[in-house]
Amino acid sequence: MITNPFREETISKQLAEPCTIVIFGATGDLTHRKLVPALYNIAQDGDLPHGTRIVGFARRDKSDEQFRDELAEMNAKVSRQGHDEKVWEKFASNIFYHQSTFDDADGYASLASKLTELEDENGGAGNRLFYLSSAPEFFDDILVHLKGAGLNENRDDKWARVIVEKPFGKDLATAQHLNEVLSTTFHEADTYRIDHYLGKETAQNIMVLRFANAIFEPLWNNRFIDHVQVTCSEDLGMEGGRGGYYDTAGALRDMVQNHLLQLISLMAMEPPVDLSADGVRDAKVNVLRALRPMASPEDVGKNVVRAQYTEGSVNGEKVPGYREEDRVNPESLTEAYVALRLHIDNWRWEGVPFYLRMGKRLPKKSTEISIHFKKAPNVLFNKLHVDSRENVLVIRIQPDEGNSLRMVSKIPGANMRMESVKMDFRYSTSFGKASPEAYERLLLDAMSGDATLFARRDEVETAWKFIDEIEHAWHQSVTPPPMAEYEAGSWGPTEADALLAQDGHLWRRL
Ligand code: BG6
Repeated sequence: MITNPFREETISKQLAEPCTIVIFGATGDLTHRKLVPALYNIAQDGDLPHGTRIVGFARRDKSDEQFRDELAEMNAKVSRQGHDEKVWEKFASNIFYHQSTFDDADGYASLASKLTELEDENGGAGNRLFYLSSAPEFFDDILVHLKGAGLNENRDDKWARVIVEKPFGKDLATAQHLNEVLSTTFHEADTYRIDHYLGKETAQNIMVLRFANAIFEPLWNNRFIDHVQVTCSEDLGMEGGRGGYYDTAGALRDMVQNHLLQLISLMAMEPPVDLSADGVRDAKVNVLRALRPMASPEDVGKNVVRAQYTEGSVNGEKVPGYREEDRVNPESLTEAYVALRLHIDNWRWEGVPFYLRMGKRLPKKSTEISIHFKKAPNVLFNKLHVDSRENVLVIRIQPDEGNSLRMVSKIPGANMRMESVKMDFRYSTSFGKASPEAYERLLLDAMSGDATLFARRDEVETAWKFIDEIEHAWHQSVTPPPMAEYEAGSWGPTEADALLAQDGHLWRRL
């Protein structure tokens, strides 16, 4: 067996500390499908610090037992490592329910007493992690009342931290407002704006690929890279009543402002001065600052395509068009697909287009970044037929996590014939075990006080500033760029193909 000398190498991290995790919006989908299963899996791996407990805070009336049973039912369906009744029982004995509306000051006063009581009775460190996963319109109330009850304060060596779920605002003004309220409640160092894409193993590996290998970084610039494509395709539509939220957001706000711009920041940033939270975030925010603004509706019309799907079939099933989806306005002007051409106006990337596309009801779920290198000088093999001379490095974020490098190779035989072949690294075969879910990593990081994989205030606001210009052109200009259409189950509108064709490129076939 070949041993990998780097495999054991870890950068020492602070350990997660025991705390009480208070989840606001505890009866919601995120808590059931992601947060509690993530904590359960951490417990199953033996990594949940002893003395950690969960308190669910929500409006509906229910007992601890009822809450635990509901969580167990979902955990059994979605848990990454299955549901072991013995592990669950021990884990669930530390789950509690607290009933209150979000705007009732008394509910927070009684929460404060409950936390002290639990800490006195059962021990634990007295640290508290507040997780805002309710509908975003309640964030202000929750923060104001946490402060009112004195729950926001660090006491002696006991910390109080807050994790804020997305959507983090719906434009720059609302994001700034939320940041203001946050800054009067928690210190920036105790504020964790979650973007679950940063917790994905493959997103974290972008830095390792770039800066722990000597061969890529010298090529990682406009002298060698022709263009970059980022694709995030989803086969899902508006199942489970999601249309209600989605129709107020759209693809640009829902995925591009956060997840995709974060991936681009990691891919395009300069080497950070160190791996500290601020070292990495300083480097990332500089990419966002260098995004060429879409200064006018004409710029937006030239560089951005928005679209909605019409009825079609996905994975062999007939599905309705976007405007016919449950809880979507039949006259909606919200995009379920967006494709953009971006430029990063800095020394490294001048002249390299970045193409992004994100869409619902595409043929399959897949997220990847592909880096298309410039072609070799066309002088020696120019008379031979070759599939493509482009070298492409693909970072597969999900599924089938891994990287591949496409290169041209000679087909064996007497003639000089060539074909494009692929060198492939797959997490599943190289490491032989499933990667932890993004939320597992991020919850542990927040419990250990490491904010590297969370968005900082300036990142969120700079990203919104860029997105606002596009939203403005779509919804407030007198000549808004048109809404294109694509059939559900296809790879998006022809207008998005035309966007790349103008530059002589094609979207990668996934
Ligand atoms: C969420 C978006 O943030 O990310 C959803 O609101 C999207 O619309 C989801 O489906 C995708 O996450 P993942 O991890 O499944 O790619």
